[in-house]
Amino acid sequence: MKEKEEFVGFDSHEYRPIVRNKSMQLLKDFVIAQKPAQILEIGTFIGYSAGIMLDAFDGCHVTTLEKYEDNARDAVKNLTELGFLGRFEVVCCDAYDYLQTNQNRQFDFIFLDGPKGQYIKYLPLIKNMLKKGGILICDDILFYGLVRSNQHIEHKHRTIVNNLRKFIAALTEDEDFETQIHEFDNGISVSRKKV
Ligand SMILES: C[S@@+](CC[C@H](N)C(=O)[O-])C[C@H]1O[C@@H](n2cnc3c(N)ncnc32)[C@H](O)[C@@H]1O
Repeated sequence: MKEKEEFVGFDSHEYRPIVRNKSMQLLKDFVIAQKPAQILEIGTFIGYSAGIMLDAFDGCHVTTLEKYEDNARDAVKNLTELGFLGRFEVVCCDAYDYLQTNQNRQFDFIFLDGPKGQYIKYLPLIKNMLKKGGILICDDILFYGLVRSNQHIEHKHRTIVNNLRKFIAALTEDEDFETQIHEFDNGISVSRKKV
C-alpha cells in the first residue's frame, strides 16, 4: 500500500479525516483475523481505509458509502490505481438512505466512519445488515475526549457529543453485541454480533 499522502485528493483538502495510525492498525488486524468476504464501510473520503482493508485480505469485497462526488471520484481513482478494480464499489449517496433501502444486504464486517452525529440513527440499520458472528468497528466515538469529559461542551459540538453518548450507551447495552471500547486516537469500538 502506498502512503496516504500519495493518494489522489490528499493535497486538495486542508482537513483530512482519515483513520489514525493505531486505529488503522486495529482495523487491519481485525480484517486479517476475521477474513470477511463482504465489508461495508460508511464514510469513504478518498479511499484510504477501504484500501487498507482490501490490502489486508485479498478475499474481501468492500462496499463503501460517500456523500460527496469529488471524494467518491478520488476514491475510485485511488482504489483502481492500487489494483483493486472489481473488488470494491464506491456508492455516492447519503448513507442513511442507502442503509434504509438496502436492508436485505448482509455483511461480515462493517466499518462505521461517517458523520458522527448520525451513528445513533444508523445503529439499528447496520445491526440488521451485520451477519451473526460479524464485526462492527466504529471510529471517532470519543470525539476528541469530549464524550467522556465532564467539562462544558461548546454549543457547536453539543449535538454530536450527546448523540455519541446515546450511541455508546445503545451499543454497549445491546445484548446482541459484545463490545470493547479503546480510548486511543479518537476512540474506537469493536463489537461482535453474537451468534
Ligand atoms: C472520517 S471520513 C472517512 C475516512 C475514511 N474512512 C478513511 O479513514 O480513509 C468521513 C467521510 O464521510 C463522508 N460523509 C459525511 N456525511 C455523510 C453521509 N451522510 N453519507 C455518506 N457519507 C458521508 C464525508 O464526506 C467523509 O468523507
